Amino acid sequence: MSQNKHLHIGLSLAPTWQSGDAWRRADSDIEGIYTTDFAVDLARRAEAAHLDFVFRPDVCAVNESQLDAGSGFACLDPSILLAAVSQHTSRIGLVSTVSTTWNPPYVVARQLQSLNWVSRGRIGWNIVTALQGHENFGLSTMPSADERYQRAAEFTAVVRQLWDSFPGDSVLVDREAGRYADATRIKPINHEGEHFRVRGPLNMPAFDARIPLIQAGASEAGRDFAASVADVVFAPTPDLQAAQDLRDDLSRRALRHGRDPADVRLLPGLSLYLADTREQAREIFLHTHARLDRTRKLEQIREMTGLDLTAWPDDKPVTPADLPPPPPSPASRTHSHLLRRLLARESLTVSELLLRPEVISAAHWQVIGTAQDAVESIQAWAASGAINGFIAAPGGSVGSITVFLEQVMPRLVERGLFRRDYQGTTFMEHLRQRL
Ligand SMILES: Cc1cc2nc3c(=O)[nH]c(=O)nc-3n(C[C@H](O)[C@H](O)[C@H](O)COP(=O)(O)O)c2cc1C
Repeated sequence: MSQNKHLHIGLSLAPTWQSGDAWRRADSDIEGIYTTDFAVDLARRAEAAHLDFVFRPDVCAVNESQLDAGSGFACLDPSILLAAVSQHTSRIGLVSTVSTTWNPPYVVARQLQSLNWVSRGRIGWNIVTALQGHENFGLSTMPSADERYQRAAEFTAVVRQLWDSFPGDSVLVDREAGRYADATRIKPINHEGEHFRVRGPLNMPAFDARIPLIQAGASEAGRDFAASVADVVFAPTPDLQAAQDLRDDLSRRALRHGRDPADVRLLPGLSLYLADTREQAREIFLHTHARLDRTRKLEQIREMTGLDLTAWPDDKPVTPADLPPPPPSPASRTHSHLLRRLLARESLTVSELLLRPEVISAAHWQVIGTAQDAVESIQAWAASGAINGFIAAPGGSVGSITVFLEQVMPRLVERGLFRRDYQGTTFMEHLRQRL
């Protein structure tokens, strides 16, 4: 797939530049996180660089004990935030995260189609089955990942049928004849499945631009679900080999589902700590993680791998032989697999392990360095044909965002890896644009 060098690029609106200790910097704008100003400003700057989309991850729960040291995942509802952003932008795609585990499909179909109208065809749906939050929805335990995916598959099918149930061009608005719509084309879906009973039709017509679907979990079930419906797969791939393996696997699965593999675009997360020099970038990275909550990280490692490092000194190496059998049901098998993969390959001391992306940044591809370092890494990954782009998550300081948008992006354009301008106005058109 080496012809596939033109990239699709998204920017995460989760304030990764405020995570760890970075929120304590004078210019972090931490006071603004529950307003829309910062997201609007960022989306406009991303639009000026012609990015495909901005993207808001979301979790329907908050860990109150962690709020002592940072804002964590406390945030506005992403769909409401993006409705505001849509009114200050005109071309960039807007990807909202809505869980299939906690919501009814009719409500989600309606909200997303409403956003599609409000943004004139620029909304995307990041389908998540969620990692936590069952206590907030009347459940005593978190449903297993397989149960969540079964529900997600049915949920997504229902949402898509609802979007199709009221075709946009069935609206006639024929004043003379007194016909508002061709009602014969607006049909109930009469869905009766294992999880949902929904009659339909949706109570609004579809906007004339399909809503792209994004999917993130990369376990067997997650990949299969992605290959069957997703336009974009958002994946943690800490190294190029992981991206290549995932790309090959997604392509095989897409073919099995009767889809063109090129329609299942792989966009890994890219965590960026950028500054004018490598030393400054490293300093920003280390400052961000200086007060890293060791106990919480060790608990995460135990949950993901079964390995309890609580009593281990920082300089003790963890060897592949220390790995116990995999835990039966981690919240994310994707992250569990990637961390176990790291431990099986490399012998790291506990303190080295605690600074690896598999532990601190959800296993994303990571560049700590200058704009040039980021460009070289992106070009190498693009040349391999493994990826179709990436979702940038600038970390450490707002300076990382500026270096990314003002120095990395123009160089990607110069190298022929990214568009000079938008050709279309909808998110789906951006995803189909080939430079
Ligand atoms: C890269 C990535 C990003 C994710 N983002 C979210 C998110 O924003 N909100 C959420 O509730 N779950 C999120 N998830 C969780 C997935 O939706 C899924 O529930 C979880 O990874 C379990 O699936 P798996 O076994 O395929 O990993 C994310 C997962 C991955 C791998």
